[in-house]
Amino acid sequence: MLEELKEANQYVINKIKEKDLLILEIEEYAKEYNVPIVTKEVAEYLRFLVRDKNVKNILEVGTAIGYSGIIMGKEIEKKDGKLYTIEIDEERYNTAQENIKKSGLKNIISIKGDAIEEISKINEYFDFVFIDASKGHYKQFFEDSVKLLNKDGIIFIDNIMFRGYLYKEYPKRFKTIVKRLNEFIEYLHERKDGEFVLLPFGDGVGLFRKK
Ligand SMILES: C[S@@+](CC[C@H](N)C(=O)[O-])C[C@H]1O[C@@H](n2cnc3c(N)ncnc32)[C@H](O)[C@@H]1O
Repeated sequence: MLEELKEANQYVINKIKEKDLLILEIEEYAKEYNVPIVTKEVAEYLRFLVRDKNVKNILEVGTAIGYSGIIMGKEIEKKDGKLYTIEIDEERYNTAQENIKKSGLKNIISIKGDAIEEISKINEYFDFVFIDASKGHYKQFFEDSVKLLNKDGIIFIDNIMFRGYLYKEYPKRFKTIVKRLNEFIEYLHERKDGEFVLLPFGDGVGLFRKK
């Protein structure tokens, strides 16, 4: 989360009244075992976006334990939509499987593996892509998934402003990742096949819409 927005984000979070008991249970688990999941306000925004009547099929890069996948999967189930989700870590993949089973959703296709290899093996088109995995590979995830994106489809890129390190002093060990993310943002602004907006919200959100 962007430190500068902590109070504003907390205000927004306090307004969200989550009623889904499984979602609350996963939030508790994530806190206890230190699993990174989207913040509540970003989860609400995802829910809001995928409710759009044009969003049916979704690709998620970075399942973790299934939190955001279940939130989005539930929204598109009503529209007969499917959600493909990819996770590299075996333990998290297994926990996600258990959570998806508990959710009763039958429209989530979980892939265990490295998204660098797995995205290009998928033989489907998507209306919405959620990129939330290793930041060093965001450009590759984007390039692989934009090929599978329908016209007017959206790619949602989370944590793109990386704790604000893109514009303020950062620990030396993050030099490469900061450089890559800054270049990635430039690249997204310059793409001719769609439009891009950068939102200073959560940990920074990037939204790309394909023409
Ligand atoms: C921030 S977490 C995802 C959180 C999840 N989207 C949520 O909000 O519930 C990022 C996940 O991406 C996974 N990951 C990192 N690099 C990956 C890769 N190359 N392919 C697939 N998964 C990857 C990590 O193991 C981690 O569980």
